[in-house]
Amino acid sequence: MPLRRLVLAAALVLPVAGQAQGPIVIKFSHVVAPETPKGKAAQRFKELAEARTGGRVRVEVYPNSQLYKDKEEMEALQLGSVQMLAPSLAKFGPLGVKEFEVFDLPYLFKDTAAFHAVTEGPLGTELLRKLEPKGIRGLAYWDNGFQIMSANRPLRQVGDFRGLKMRIQASKVLDAQMRALGAVPQVMAFSELYQALQTGLVDGTEGVPSNYYTQKIFEVQKHMTLSNHGHLAYAVIVNKKFWDGLPADVRAPLEAAVRETAVYANAIASKENAAALQAIQASGRTQLHTPTPAEANTWKKALMPVHQAMEQRVGKATIAAAYRAAGFVAPD
Ligand code: LMR
Repeated sequence: MPLRRLVLAAALVLPVAGQAQGPIVIKFSHVVAPETPKGKAAQRFKELAEARTGGRVRVEVYPNSQLYKDKEEMEALQLGSVQMLAPSLAKFGPLGVKEFEVFDLPYLFKDTAAFHAVTEGPLGTELLRKLEPKGIRGLAYWDNGFQIMSANRPLRQVGDFRGLKMRIQASKVLDAQMRALGAVPQVMAFSELYQALQTGLVDGTEGVPSNYYTQKIFEVQKHMTLSNHGHLAYAVIVNKKFWDGLPADVRAPLEAAVRETAVYANAIASKENAAALQAIQASGRTQLHTPTPAEANTWKKALMPVHQAMEQRVGKATIAAAYRAAGFVAPD
């Protein structure tokens, strides 16, 4: 074949780098509804990432555990079947990074600012770094506010928990917390919670209003106590090999999109949860209880020993660093 025809034929079959290949696809899986703070932030990241990379990246968001449930999601990320997740911080203990369970210590954070002081300080950075040997790169934290407790009976006194089967995430701190209240903790995937409550497999749970509302959990829980005993937040994580392998001029705008999305996620969390709580109240299906100071005090007294009991698992130094950053003061 004459040289010119050979070159022409090769040009037809060989894709020109970066042209004939499609966009880089980031599959972003999560377990909650699209209209929650996490769901909205995932969508915002998609919009920013696609715009900032001029279409070189396509982000596919899969909400509501449609690809994977809690534990499988983490495995899928490590295997590279999905590239991005935002699991709750309670989901990192089972991965072997037990220090993350510091975030589950009851009453650790007096307010949102105390939470951010931890995540934005050296401890927050150090914890994300601990994910790297697991093949995971941690990029940001997203807040989702304070947790409340629910059941089909009022939960006012600590004794009201006795014998209740309470769904928890797979965190040893949350397990210890429920036991300290006299309840029986049951680890269960988030996607199975509604049905488990409906069928009586479990009696109650803890969670944030935006999840109670969007999963319709309030329809199967007659009572909620606005205990604010715990805190729910997420780490935005990616498959390290995938992320590190991105061309630098793609990774940089993506990292900017991650930073911008974190600001958005942290700004909407409390508003979204307040609106969800209002909607739950308006439904008339669930009675909301605000603990009196005396009631709150008995919960705190019952739950403080969990901090000490978990020192060995979470690490004394990690707990001390979180206390310092959060300005934690133990109740008298
Ligand atoms: C849960 O399992 O309760 C949470 O992880 C749900 C969430 O908001 O991700």
